[in-house]
Amino acid sequence: MPGTCVIGLQWGDEAKGKLVDLLTSQFDVVVRYQGGANAGHTVVIGENVYKLHHIPSGILNPNVRNLVTPGVVLNPPTILGEIDSLQQRGVEVGDNLMISDRVHVVFPWHLAEDRAMNAERVSGESIGTTLRGIGPCYRDKVGRNFAIRLGDMYRDDFRERIHEIVAAKKRILSNLNGEVESLDPEVIFAEFAAYAERLRPHVADTTAFLLDAVEANQKVLYEGAQGALLDIDHGTFPFVTSSNSSGVGVSAGSGIPPRWINRVIGVVKAYSTRVGGGPFPTELDDDMGQRIRDLGNEYGTTTGRPRRCGWFDAVAVRYTARLSGVDALSVMMLDVLSQLPEVRICVAYDLDGERIDHFPSHADDLRRAKPIYETIPGWEVDVTGVRELADLPAGARRYLDRVSELVGRPVEIVSVGPDRAQTMFATPD
Ligand code: IMP
Repeated sequence: MPGTCVIGLQWGDEAKGKLVDLLTSQFDVVVRYQGGANAGHTVVIGENVYKLHHIPSGILNPNVRNLVTPGVVLNPPTILGEIDSLQQRGVEVGDNLMISDRVHVVFPWHLAEDRAMNAERVSGESIGTTLRGIGPCYRDKVGRNFAIRLGDMYRDDFRERIHEIVAAKKRILSNLNGEVESLDPEVIFAEFAAYAERLRPHVADTTAFLLDAVEANQKVLYEGAQGALLDIDHGTFPFVTSSNSSGVGVSAGSGIPPRWINRVIGVVKAYSTRVGGGPFPTELDDDMGQRIRDLGNEYGTTTGRPRRCGWFDAVAVRYTARLSGVDALSVMMLDVLSQLPEVRICVAYDLDGERIDHFPSHADDLRRAKPIYETIPGWEVDVTGVRELADLPAGARRYLDRVSELVGRPVEIVSVGPDRAQTMFATPD
């Protein structure tokens, strides 16, 4: 079993970090391959809550090698903060963390551009980014002229590159009414040269390392960030993130040929959430939505923003499960639904009077799509202490069976709380 991926199938925040942490003991290497500090992966171990933005959740397992590979955009002060906070709590972070010299670096001008662009509207709505400079950094990577990769920070012309880029960015930002005063090239150079020194022990050619690892039959777990509906090419564009966050991004972001990936676990919440702008057919803009938000503590890990909440959308998840090549589903936060008198699943959309069961490609169509629901009686039993799938109340099992049937994939993992112990695995027949 050389390569397994864990992919979020909704709009992110599906509790992938918890699952990756649980699975890491079966793997030699854990890889983060896209996104950056926009991600917030929470892992709870006993009393300790770890919030990771770049570092793979495998870092909490001492036998695992953790890789940050070329598809990631790196915010140096944020990852250094993660390293410090892990070390302060006794977690070893040494040569078990390797960061590719090919990752692109997020600089202060990217943050200023993100703020300026986020003030602009797309079809009357703001994208509502995490303001971590993700879009502008990926834009510079694709545009090439103004990009700096981690490996460039150790080269003789690093200072000169900062001067050149700051001069150009000031011109661009002035046109966007962005903040230019704080962009002092000498201050930025001094700050980032210091970050580069601190990161130096972790910088490596992760592509070569990973190819050696898979060719030597080591087991690799790929940890997706965000969710497939935020994929730049296949998500609810333009209300998406700037990387390939569905299963199709694993190979490009990590540098591993697709043939080395042979199992994909799709992670979903038992309901839906979304942060930021964009269409969300099953959104509940009412007391029920607030109830789910309160029960699920649905506030962003990275930004603290309240998450938009709604019912499970089987049309959307069937689409992303197929797109990501999912073998099995992991359903998280089932406990949140356990207090409700009834639960709903969206089984199709009504688009301009026509019933459709495919996921529309245009955000405007998705915005007009009205969910067609199936209602399932609630089970109203606290499931947080349940440890075997067979011991779940019949109503909860019925709900999971229906999710599986509609998405077309088996549910093999179910989570009923934040702790490692609150997770159940289906045993093969
Ligand atoms: P960006 O990735 O900061 O550019 O944000 C683009 C969109 O993706 C916004 O709607 C964000 O709220 C959303 N987003 C980015 N990262 C995450 C995440 O880790 N979880 C959930 N939503 C995210």
